Amino acid sequence: MTASSRRAARPRVGIVAAAGSGERLGADVPKALVDCGGQRLFTWSVEALAAVCDRVIVAVPPDLRLEIREAALEQIAGGSSRSASVREAVRSAPDAAVYVVQDAARPLLSAELVEACCEQVEAGWDGAVAAAPVSDTIKAVDGDGRVVETLDRSRLWAIQTPQAFDGAALRAALEVDDRTLAAATDDAALVEARGGSITIVPAPAENIKVTTRADLAFAELLLAPRVER
Ligand code: C5P
Repeated sequence: MTASSRRAARPRVGIVAAAGSGERLGADVPKALVDCGGQRLFTWSVEALAAVCDRVIVAVPPDLRLEIREAALEQIAGGSSRSASVREAVRSAPDAAVYVVQDAARPLLSAELVEACCEQVEAGWDGAVAAAPVSDTIKAVDGDGRVVETLDRSRLWAIQTPQAFDGAALRAALEVDDRTLAAATDDAALVEARGGSITIVPAPAENIKVTTRADLAFAELLLAPRVER
C-alpha cells in the first residue's frame, strides 16, 4: 500500500487549538495570532500538520473570523475550554480515522514528530503523545506549602502536543460534560479515563510552549533557522 492510498483509506485530520485568549502573554490579540518569527503563531502548527494530514481545522475564538491565506485550512468557532474547542473541531470532521491535536502555542513542532505520532496510532495505540523527559526534580506539595512526596523522576515525562488519536477513541472520550472537558489539561487524559491506551513519542527539547513574553522571544530564537530557509 502506498502512503497516499493508505491515507485515503485512513484519513488523518489535524486540529489546531487556537481559541484561547492567551492573557498571560499580554498581547492585544489572541495568543495564536501574535507574530512569531515573521508569521502568526498558529501558522507554524498548520504548516506541520498540513504536511502529513488530509485536512487541517483551526479552532478560533468564537468572536473572531480569521483571514485565512492557506487554501486547505478550515476554521471553526472554539469552545469555552481547550478540550471543548477540540470537541467542536472533531464534530465538524466526524469520519476521521486519526486526529492530530496540536496547541497553537507550540510553534516548534515538526512534520516528522506529527508523522511519528500518527504511525503509533496506526500501529494500534488509542493515542500517541509528544513528550519530553523531566529534568527537574518534581515534588507534590500540600496547601500549606509542605512537601508531601518526591516523585521518581526516572518515570516522569512532560506531555506536550502534537497528540494523535484513533478517531473512534477520541470521539467517544470527548462526549462528556463541559466541566469534565474544562478540567482536562490534555485530550489524552480523557482517552485514558475511558481505559484507552496511550504511548509517548519522545520530542526534541525545543518543542516549547509559548505562554509568556520570554517564551515568545525564546521561540523566535529557536525558529530563526527555519525562517532563514
Ligand atoms: O491556555 P493554554 O496555553 O493552556 O492553551 C493551550 C492551547 O489551547 C492554546 O493554543 C489555546 O489557543 C487553546 N485553547 C483553545 N480553546 C480554549 C482555550 C484554549 O483552543 N477555549
